[in-house]
Amino acid sequence: MTELEEHIKRLIRAGGPIPLSVYMGLALGHPEYGYYHHREVFGTEGDFITAPEISQMFGELIGLWCVQRWRDMGSPGEFILCELGPGRGTLMRDALRAARLAPDFLQAAQLHLVETSRRLRALQREALQRPVIWHDGVTQLPQIPAIFIANEFFDALPIRQFLRRDNQWREKMVAIDPASDDLCFCLSPAPLADVSILPAAMRRAPEGGIAEISPGAQAVLQILAGHIAGQGGAALIIDYGPAASSPGDSFQALRGQRYSDPLRNAGHADLTAHVDFQTLALIAHAAGCKTDGPIPQGAFLSRLGLHLRARKLSQSATPEQRAAISSALHRLTGPQEMGGLFKALALGHPDLPLSPGFGE
Ligand SMILES: C[S@@+](CC[C@H](N)C(=O)[O-])C[C@H]1O[C@@H](n2cnc3c(N)ncnc32)[C@H](O)[C@@H]1O
Repeated sequence: MTELEEHIKRLIRAGGPIPLSVYMGLALGHPEYGYYHHREVFGTEGDFITAPEISQMFGELIGLWCVQRWRDMGSPGEFILCELGPGRGTLMRDALRAARLAPDFLQAAQLHLVETSRRLRALQREALQRPVIWHDGVTQLPQIPAIFIANEFFDALPIRQFLRRDNQWREKMVAIDPASDDLCFCLSPAPLADVSILPAAMRRAPEGGIAEISPGAQAVLQILAGHIAGQGGAALIIDYGPAASSPGDSFQALRGQRYSDPLRNAGHADLTAHVDFQTLALIAHAAGCKTDGPIPQGAFLSRLGLHLRARKLSQSATPEQRAAISSALHRLTGPQEMGGLFKALALGHPDLPLSPGFGE
C-alpha cells in the first residue's frame, strides 16, 4: 500500500467516504505524495507520453500559432505567454525556439507558467533557461493581453461523477471495503439536489448512466476567458475527450503505460478524465469570448503545416531519424491515435479573425 493510500484511508476512517474529486485531487496533487510531485511520469520510462514528448514538431507549430495570434492581436508591446501544466517544459522550449523567427514577439512576451509541482518547476527552469514567473493557479496574472496554451492540462483536473438510479443522481464517493480493507466506490446517501450542474446531454443518460463534471476545469476556463475578453488575447486547449458533452465513465489510471485500477497505487498512477469541450466552449461564450473548434488534433496540426515540417526535417535526417519522424507523424495525426482522440479548441477575443489551424 502506498503512503498516500494510507493517508486517504485515515481521512475516510475519520470523516467517512470522500467524493471522487477529493480522491483524484489528493492522488495527483498531494504536496508530498501526489503523482506529479514525486514521480517521473513522462516518456518511455514514465507512465505516458504526451504530444510534445513525441516530437519537437508539436511545440514548434504551437509556437508559430502563438506568433500568428499575437500579430492578429495587433502585436502588443507587452503580453503574457502563459502555459498551464507545462510538464517538463518541452512544448514551451520548442515553441520559443520556433518563435525566434519573430524576435519582436519574443521581446514582447512575458513568460508565465501555471504549475503546482515544485519538482516539475525545476525541470521547466532547466529546459527554458530564461526568466519565468510561476503560479500555482490562474488568479494572479497581470492584467495585460495574454496567450494561453494548455496541452493535457484540463484532463488532470479533478472530476465529480454521478450515477443515475431511480431517476435520481447520486455522487460517486470513495470508501473502504470492510471485507478487504481496500478502497472502493460507494454512492452518496443523498441525491444531487441541483441537477442543473450537469450538462443537458448528460442528464439524458439512461438508468445506470454516469455523468462527469470538472468544477476545477470550469473555474479555470472562466478565468482564462474573462481575461481574454477583458484584456485581449487567445487560448489554445488541446486535450483528450469527445467534441460534444455526453454521459459515460472516462475516469482512468495509467501506470507504466498500461491501464490500471484507479483506486490502487494512489500517487503512483496517472489519473485522468475526458475533457468536456462543449461545456468549456459554452463557458467561454458566456464570458464574452469566441471559440473555434473543437476539431481533431490531427486536422489542426495538418492545417498548421505538420506534414511540410516533417518533410523538411526528413531531408537532413538519418534513416533512423526519418523512421522516427514518420512514426511521430502517424501518432500525432492518425485518426485512431492522438490525431482523432485529442481535440483542439481555441478561444479568442471577439475582434480576432479565425484562429490559425481551424479553417479549411
Ligand atoms: C499530463 S501533464 C501535461 C504536461 C505537458 N503539458 C505535456 O504536454 O507534456 C499535466 C501537467 O499539469 C500539471 N498540473 C496538474 N494539475 C495541476 C493543477 N491543479 N494546477 C497546476 N498544474 C497542474 C502537472 O504538474 C503537469 O505539469
